[in-house]
Amino acid sequence: MDRIRISGGHELNGEIQISGAKNATLPLMIASLLSDETLTLRNMPSLADVNLLSRILGNHGVDMAVDGKRPGSSGGCGDTVHLTARTIVDTTAPYEFVSRMRASFWVLGPLLARCGEAKVSLPGGCAIGTRPVDLHISGLEALGAEIELEDGYVVASAKKGLQGGRVVFPKVSVGATHNVLMAAVLARGETIIENAACEPEVTDLAQCLSAMGARIEGVGTPTIHIQGVDKLHGATHSVLPDRIETGTYAMAVAMTGGDVELVGAREDLFEAATDILRQAGVSITPTNRGLRVQRNGSALAPVNVSTAPFPGFPTDLQAQFMALMTKAGGTSNITETIFENRFMHVQELARLGAEIELDGDTAIVTGVDSLNGAQVMATDLRASVSLVIAGLAAEGDTIINRVYHLDRGFERIESKLGNCGADIERLSS
Ligand code: UD1
Repeated sequence: MDRIRISGGHELNGEIQISGAKNATLPLMIASLLSDETLTLRNMPSLADVNLLSRILGNHGVDMAVDGKRPGSSGGCGDTVHLTARTIVDTTAPYEFVSRMRASFWVLGPLLARCGEAKVSLPGGCAIGTRPVDLHISGLEALGAEIELEDGYVVASAKKGLQGGRVVFPKVSVGATHNVLMAAVLARGETIIENAACEPEVTDLAQCLSAMGARIEGVGTPTIHIQGVDKLHGATHSVLPDRIETGTYAMAVAMTGGDVELVGAREDLFEAATDILRQAGVSITPTNRGLRVQRNGSALAPVNVSTAPFPGFPTDLQAQFMALMTKAGGTSNITETIFENRFMHVQELARLGAEIELDGDTAIVTGVDSLNGAQVMATDLRASVSLVIAGLAAEGDTIINRVYHLDRGFERIESKLGNCGADIERLSS
């Protein structure tokens, strides 16, 4: 299993190209199941999760073709991929796939909408809480689906097709919003989703569906109206930039000090995080290519943070921000409100010398003068990158084990950081 070695203490200076968002790419790829015409996606990141989803979609009958890169083009411009689901050959998503990536559960809505049936294994993915699927199921039932649980599979049918309905989510769920939205675009009549997720990735999906002929209003607000259509057609869509990758690199620069331009970054996608970083003493300014992040050696101020659905502070940046606060000049409280088990990085950060106490859903982080390199283990996607951030500032070598978690969501992280002056390398085994 690959490991990453970081020798800390180097400032980051230069530029980093922000990739297309993983969390938008996955539902966009799944949206290809809704049409027999070709969906072309530009600015696609090259990630383990994208490769796995390609295999899953291939199993359902989606043909995928990737445009070759032009000679001399940098790795930063993203792939262009054409997905064509001319015929759905299999409506089952098996355990061996869905257990490895939670987002693959989202094929349920589109398969049901297009074929009137689907059998999808209960999901797996990052172990950051119990992560049930009750909201997905009740949402699809509100559109007339009949759903049973059989031997670890969700078996859904809508023999006469889905019928628009009113879906009121008791809790905000990104995945359930994606799933119901994709089902509703081909349902008969109007669907109203209330308490929908407002995350930019939901908006990105809705924009792509609209380009395919879907009729959707209210996206980006908690109430989405969808008028079902008989058929979707092909379209071309560019994946929005990854706000979590942007925030992660901004925090890396905040941690080490330096001056980095995040090319392609959009501040409107993560203002809650930029506000917090500015309070911590980091300078973030828009440029004509993205965002410039600077910290010039001044101490980091401690800032309290509580995660929340968009436009709040994203849970996917909580671990990275905690790593940053381990070096702040004081104590900060970091509260996790979305997932109940998303503090697995705490014990790993402690190996590097961080002082963190847990009190229920809050981590109390007391900044220390220095972190020290050690062997640590990546436990989930965002936790692993928090260890990279801490390692960049630790004295001596940090070895991060189980980096396959990192490869699921961060494209070329060693070269992106290495090009800015970090001493980081992948140790292949
Ligand atoms: C997505 C993101 C993930 C992010 C999360 C919250 C992708 C691929 N993943 O995950 O990176 O951390 O949103 O922003 O986009 N819940 C239920 N019942 C359900 C579904 C969810 O109780 O049926 C709960 C979850 O346990 C959690 C909360 O709702 O407590 C939010 O989860 P959700 O927004 O659904 O997360 P994902 O879509 O899995």
